[in-house]
Amino acid sequence: MNKKTIEDIDVQGKKVFVRADFNVPLDDKQQITNDKRIRATLPTINYLLDHGAAVILASHLGRPKGKVKPELSLKPVADYFTKLWGRPIKFAADCVGETARQAAASLQPGEILLLENLRFHPEEEKNDPAFAKELASLADVAVDDAFGCAHRGHASNEGITKYIETVAGYLIEKEIKFIGAALAAPKRPFVAILGGAKVSDKIGVISNMIDKVDTIIIGGGMAHTFDAAKGLPIGDSLCEPDKYDLARELLAKAEKKGVRVVLPVDVVVADKFAADANHKTVAVDQVEPGWQALDS
Ligand code: 3PG
Repeated sequence: MNKKTIEDIDVQGKKVFVRADFNVPLDDKQQITNDKRIRATLPTINYLLDHGAAVILASHLGRPKGKVKPELSLKPVADYFTKLWGRPIKFAADCVGETARQAAASLQPGEILLLENLRFHPEEEKNDPAFAKELASLADVAVDDAFGCAHRGHASNEGITKYIETVAGYLIEKEIKFIGAALAAPKRPFVAILGGAKVSDKIGVISNMIDKVDTIIIGGGMAHTFDAAKGLPIGDSLCEPDKYDLARELLAKAEKKGVRVVLPVDVVVADKFAADANHKTVAVDQVEPGWQALDS
């Protein structure tokens, strides 16, 4: 891989800013219901601690749109880490400002500090240079291990690189190696499976994939936008009406290139998005008003 990784730098005695993706699902009691993303960062964190670093973790959680939303606090992640770790990790109630500065300054090698949700500040998603510089000032070196948001050009992953040396963590390294190999010399038939809520987030990926794969399987929320663009009833399902034309263009591009696009043939619909909702499985062309497809 032609990118520097944590193994290429000396972290002994240094403060290391680690951009992680702790965008984990929480239930209504703020309990983490799936810890996969937290566990995925452990190899990087362990390596840094084993090599004498003090680790400053930063992440977003949800989409608070630049406002402080207590229900999207990363405190439950700090508590979870403490349990996972068997010793307490520190938590700073803000990711910048005096609180963050003091917490980072007093951090010792072998210790972990988690900063509060980066997206409580609008500057994060705006990739504001002053905000990126302030994040950078907390540490000596930065590590990007947030593969789940590597496609975002935000202050904590893109902006920060202008102010501090930034290298890839193990998770990013693993994903780049894997995807790089799959794209450079794919074994055929080559099938891409894509999910996620929004077509708008994945346009570039889908369009690029159509140039490389034999088949694309589209699931998740964005399948409804494709279904609606094809004229199918989607009831109250999540969709992006302003992306119907785009969805049709992508389908036309795929057809022209001989790429098969597979969309769900049936969906689990519910009358609300809640654990106690009424639900049933119906054919994709049988979604009634008042029902929303939640699984496909
Ligand atoms: C994700 O869950 O897909 C990543 O954490 C990115 O989140 P975002 O789509 O809100 O930027």
